[in-house]
Amino acid sequence: MTALRYDEVRETTEALAAPLSAEDQTVQSMPDASPTTWHRAHTTWFFETLVLNGRLPGYEPFDPAYAYLFNSYYETLGARHPRPHRGLVTRPGVAEVGDYRRSVDKAMGELLERREDPALCGLVELGLNHEQQHQELLLMDIKHLLSFNPLHPVYSPDGLLDGPGAALAPAAGGWRAHPGGVVAMGVDNADERFAFDSEYPRHQALVEGFEVATRLVTGGQWLDFMSDGGYRRPELWMSDGWATVQSLDWQAPMYWEQLDGRWHSFTLAGLHPVDPLDAVCHLSWYEADAFARWAGARLPTEAEWETAAAEPPEAGGADPEGWFGRVWQWTASAYSPYPGFRPSAGALGEYNGKFMVNQQVLRGSSSATSSGHARRTYRNFFPPSARWAFAGLRLCRDAS
Ligand SMILES: [Fe+2]
Repeated sequence: MTALRYDEVRETTEALAAPLSAEDQTVQSMPDASPTTWHRAHTTWFFETLVLNGRLPGYEPFDPAYAYLFNSYYETLGARHPRPHRGLVTRPGVAEVGDYRRSVDKAMGELLERREDPALCGLVELGLNHEQQHQELLLMDIKHLLSFNPLHPVYSPDGLLDGPGAALAPAAGGWRAHPGGVVAMGVDNADERFAFDSEYPRHQALVEGFEVATRLVTGGQWLDFMSDGGYRRPELWMSDGWATVQSLDWQAPMYWEQLDGRWHSFTLAGLHPVDPLDAVCHLSWYEADAFARWAGARLPTEAEWETAAAEPPEAGGADPEGWFGRVWQWTASAYSPYPGFRPSAGALGEYNGKFMVNQQVLRGSSSATSSGHARRTYRNFFPPSARWAFAGLRLCRDAS
């Protein structure tokens, strides 16, 4: 084996540390994805920084350097490592992050035993819900990483997380009419269930009469859209969407590939033929919006979605229309503050409020979402070009 010269090592190191160009990011990976150890350390950091620090007497951070590595986006909590380079941080490794986790868990146990601070329960509940959000992000990121492997590795063989086992029972397509009127949406302050600050306050919205599809858009419908030139017809697309289709050469949903003339989808259960009856997944908002236009319909607004959605069924209960537990559903609504929205005080005010621009709301939940997050008021959000979330769509149209 030939040893690398010092200058070659230095060049390689500098190349890895340099900011990625747009082309590099497209070809190599996605800068939004994070490694598994990062998710585990970051959710631990959240408890350490936002719950333990200053509350448990004598608590000292496990390692002061971790605040730089595992702060995600909190400006009020100091400088942090750039997100696109998280994948380059291989130390601390799995064992050290496990030690970190156990240490913070132990300190959290001590703090809870003290039963001193009435505000503690709310903070712990937020920390747990934050961690549950990361459990889904973790699966999104693992899937994204595995998708670069031409062997199509299987992460979860039963296919229940994402794959054939997560498919919906075939539902008859149809429309359900709603008369419209003044509707209430959002979470009431008196509601004792947990909700994120962006779901508050409950308020009124005016909705015109509308009709909503009683099933999610399926793989079969998506194949029809593709056959009809859906990805080649600019009249179907928003200007930004069309520019994205062209620059990234989108021809199908993310993770789809053709094998022996048949479309397949890469899932956490490996590569499988596209199921024409199951919900289509891994769409950007741009694609969902273009499809709806092609179908002579549109995406529902948040108010329409929340009005039309069935109450989430208990675990194992029937949800034949697929409102929850299969794919997130893009809406026509921008992620904006509700009338009367007040972000939380301090660093937690950065949790949602500062992202309320250039993002679209998704409603429902996916097969990878923690079941406790399946509620009619939950507001997920991503930029309109994002495709690595478990996202599909449900159609809506004006009352006929
Ligand atoms: Fe986070």
